[in-house]
Amino acid sequence: MPAKIIDGNQLSRQLRGEVARRAAALTAEGRQPGLAVILVGDSQASQVYVRNKIKACEENGIYSVFEKYEASLSEAELLARVEALNHDPKIHGILVQLPLPAHIDANKVIEAIAAEKDVDGFHISNAGLLMTGQPLFRPCTPYGVMKMLESIDYPVRGAHAVVVGASNIVGKPQAMLLLQAGATVTICNSKTRDLGLHTRAADILVVATGKRNIVTADMVKPGAVVIDVGMNRDDAGKLCGDVDYAGASEVAGWITPVPGGVGPMTITMLLVNTLEAAERT
Ligand code: GUN
Repeated sequence: MPAKIIDGNQLSRQLRGEVARRAAALTAEGRQPGLAVILVGDSQASQVYVRNKIKACEENGIYSVFEKYEASLSEAELLARVEALNHDPKIHGILVQLPLPAHIDANKVIEAIAAEKDVDGFHISNAGLLMTGQPLFRPCTPYGVMKMLESIDYPVRGAHAVVVGASNIVGKPQAMLLLQAGATVTICNSKTRDLGLHTRAADILVVATGKRNIVTADMVKPGAVVIDVGMNRDDAGKLCGDVDYAGASEVAGWITPVPGGVGPMTITMLLVNTLEAAERT
């Protein structure tokens, strides 16, 4: 039996409706939630992601400012912009789109964002709070994945979750969230020997490597939940994930499509984090 689809667009619509309602309530009190998005350079992919984030703010009653800079922007200039936004009362969330040009130290920029406005959840203080089980902001993509598991009432407690990819943006915080939900967690990385040995043991398989077809049908446990965080282009230029979708959906119990899976959920959770930042002020 083919896998059931976890539809990120449909779940996003539900969650965004709730965000819009709460944002309107704050706006009525003169406290409209506000997000600032900074993009440095002209990466096509980053421009698309950022445009979608701004559009989602507009559609759901969140005030947004978009600041776009040439790739030649200096680190000091960027730090000065972040500092100004830290003190801007209309702004409750600050997102600096990654990756940054090589001459800018991304860690330094992330640490410059006020922790209470760090809606990405990347600041070391927020990473530490997450790791110790007291999250302020959960990073948007892993948070969206947890909402997807919740939407199918998946019993995470006691399940074996395998996360393929160990980035600060997805893999590591994903592993923490799954661990805190009671899963037994394995984290694989680009150097893992015999990846299939690990993935075949997964009840929940989260794949976030940026490598097309890194997970094929033979690497999936029958009935597993397969969550594909990848965002790649196939040979025809069409969007695809990290998982061989056609093959894996014959084996898995549940699967997320690309596009229409994790992508919209990442943006939805950014709206949630921005809203909650505003609600806390
Ligand atoms: N680049 C890829 N994903 C993300 C994200 O979630 N936040 C930011 N700031 N940059 C990214």
